Amino acid sequence: MSAQHWHFARPDFAEKVFNLLVSGAVPAITLFGPRRTGKTEFLLRDLGPLADRQGHRVVYASLWQSPVSPLATLIYELEEARRIPSFQARFDGGLRQMSVKLTLRDPFTGSKVAVDLSTLKDASSEMLLVLDQLLGQVASRSHPTFLLLDEFQEVANGPGGADLVAALRTSLDKRKGALVSVFTGSSLYRLQAVFNRRTAPFFRFAQNIALPDLDDGFVDHMLTAARRSNLGPIDRAEALEAFEAFQKNPEFFRKWLRERVFNPASDKEALLKQVETDLAAEFEFDHLWLGLTPLQRATARMIAEKVPQPTGRNGLDFVEALTGDRPPNTTRLQTARDTLASRSILDKIDGMWSISDPVLEDWIRARPRSDF
Ligand SMILES: Nc1ncnc2c1ncn2[C@@H]1O[C@H](COP(=O)(O)OP(=O)(O)OP(=O)(O)O)[C@@H](O)[C@H]1O
Ligand SMILES: [Mg+2]
Repeated sequence: MSAQHWHFARPDFAEKVFNLLVSGAVPAITLFGPRRTGKTEFLLRDLGPLADRQGHRVVYASLWQSPVSPLATLIYELEEARRIPSFQARFDGGLRQMSVKLTLRDPFTGSKVAVDLSTLKDASSEMLLVLDQLLGQVASRSHPTFLLLDEFQEVANGPGGADLVAALRTSLDKRKGALVSVFTGSSLYRLQAVFNRRTAPFFRFAQNIALPDLDDGFVDHMLTAARRSNLGPIDRAEALEAFEAFQKNPEFFRKWLRERVFNPASDKEALLKQVETDLAAEFEFDHLWLGLTPLQRATARMIAEKVPQPTGRNGLDFVEALTGDRPPNTTRLQTARDTLASRSILDKIDGMWSISDPVLEDWIRARPRSDF
């Protein structure tokens, strides 16, 4: 038995995304959804393997918390995919150690050069050319290559970010039909900042698609996996209640399941509370809250409580009622909101602001009103 038997497959959704891209209907999609709902898992365990089985080359790169710059990560993953065409073969080995030294072909002279990715920070024109050439080498007209670019909002970070975004867009455009892309990120707001700025070269390039919510089938799958691992039985009705309590979040539900396995006798309400407390500690909500100014906290609370027009007159009244202080103008509220969004605490989906992590949202609502 392996970790794989815990994976709840999403074959229908994977097929839809696959067909949309392979048919040429769109060259790229942006896959979005709340924090920790399975975007990365979908790319790595559903869409990537499906495209691989259908004979497409698949390149996966995560641009967040990589030991090297976004450009270096892209170059590394493209070179790996060029060397080892099978996605499954590249990922079956489990977590790979990224080697920071690569031997690439010099784009001007054609001779081999050693590149140290750890020192590759800037998007120099030479390295952007290397990126373009690698994209050309992995592209295929008969079986378009899938570029799965996770945490793509980080692409523009760091020196030369804007040049990298522009170069990437040109390289992808040149190879429409031979390269298809899926962009995801843990913040739709920040992803859209890369795509939607009028001056940004990705404007209107990708179609937005929401990752569907998981349903009860996910819970049943988890209960079966637990039984097969001799970790059960677990009461289905209680499991469904916990799944709802955690807003259908797979990561939080799995945490609850582990706690239930190890505490078979504990009361169900007490167990839910325990998991909520553990999650708050694990994700350091306290620490995050302490790092906010009083106005930012009040703004986060308004958004958690779904106060209408939180950056208008309503917002001014709310802050005054909560803190006793009236902000001088609504611009202050907008700045607080934008700071929260740039830190990925808030997200904007379909024009509506919300706390990006539903468990954080519950946690904020449960704070005493005096804590602003
Ligand atoms: N289809 C699934 N089957 C089983 N478990 C899943 C599934 N999808 C997600 N999970 C669980 O939820 C966790 C979070 O998933 P994942 O990291 O893919 O979310 P994400 O949307 O990429 O998060 P972030 O927004 O932080 O990038 C996984 O580590 C896994 O435990
Ligand atoms: Mg992810």
